[in-house]
Amino acid sequence: MYKKKDKSQLNNKRSLVTKWNSKSPISEQYRTIRTNIQFSAVDAEIKTLLVTSSSAGEGKSTTAANLAVVFAQQGNKVLLVDADLRKPTIHHTFNVQNAIGLTSILTKKKELFEAISETEVKSLFVLSSGPIPPNPAELISSESMKVLLECLKVEFDTIIFDTPPILAVADAHILANRCDGSILVILSGHTENKNASKAKEVLESSSSNLLGAVLNKKKAKADEDYYYYSK
Ligand SMILES: Nc1ncnc2c1ncn2[C@@H]1O[C@H](COP(=O)(O)OP(=O)(O)OP(=O)(O)O)[C@@H](O)[C@H]1O
Ligand SMILES: [Mg+2]
Repeated sequence: MYKKKDKSQLNNKRSLVTKWNSKSPISEQYRTIRTNIQFSAVDAEIKTLLVTSSSAGEGKSTTAANLAVVFAQQGNKVLLVDADLRKPTIHHTFNVQNAIGLTSILTKKKELFEAISETEVKSLFVLSSGPIPPNPAELISSESMKVLLECLKVEFDTIIFDTPPILAVADAHILANRCDGSILVILSGHTENKNASKAKEVLESSSSNLLGAVLNKKKAKADEDYYYYSK
């Protein structure tokens, strides 16, 4: 049903630790994050999960992609959506096409099944960004996005959104209002406290549930590379 990978897309892979070394301590930390997410909402199921950070380059896409892999490894049917319509990277990470994607559906140029790609990870599918639009926030806040989200919830167990930095543009804030939970990525030794606090405030002011923060690239003692702190 979904787009099969064509052979030319199989080269030029980016390394995803959870995919290539699922036994590593780092992968184990991603599984811990997964468990914490699943236990964070006792009464409400977290079906739609947004990953963001305060500023650029803090590890949103890396975190979203690795989380998608570990959710899929648990047997869930997972869709990773590249909702960073400004600087999309998920198609590179999973080496899938990006000629058709989220923007193609939102602008009604293509059907959903034409835009979703299979990945090499069993039960993990990707909806890449599609062509970069001139009006990302408008598309993210559109009625079409609302309708799409409802369709995706029927089709997939877990839907994970990679987004742009929340303090830079409105997209992640808008989308957070439509997701069950959100995760804030903090880059160790880099993210300023005031920016992390501001991002936390913005997420808390959305109707989504801020589930916690991922501290990325923490210099590890022994084999600890990632920590997860719940609120
Ligand atoms: N824990 C990590 N260990 C090693 N490299 C990392 C880690 N997290 C992120 N990186 C690298 O840092 C760079 C930025 O990461 P990533 O693209 O995930 O950030 P981002 O927040 O999505 O950036 P942007 O704001 O540009 O979308 C990438 O080259 C990525 O491979
Ligand atoms: Mg990114």
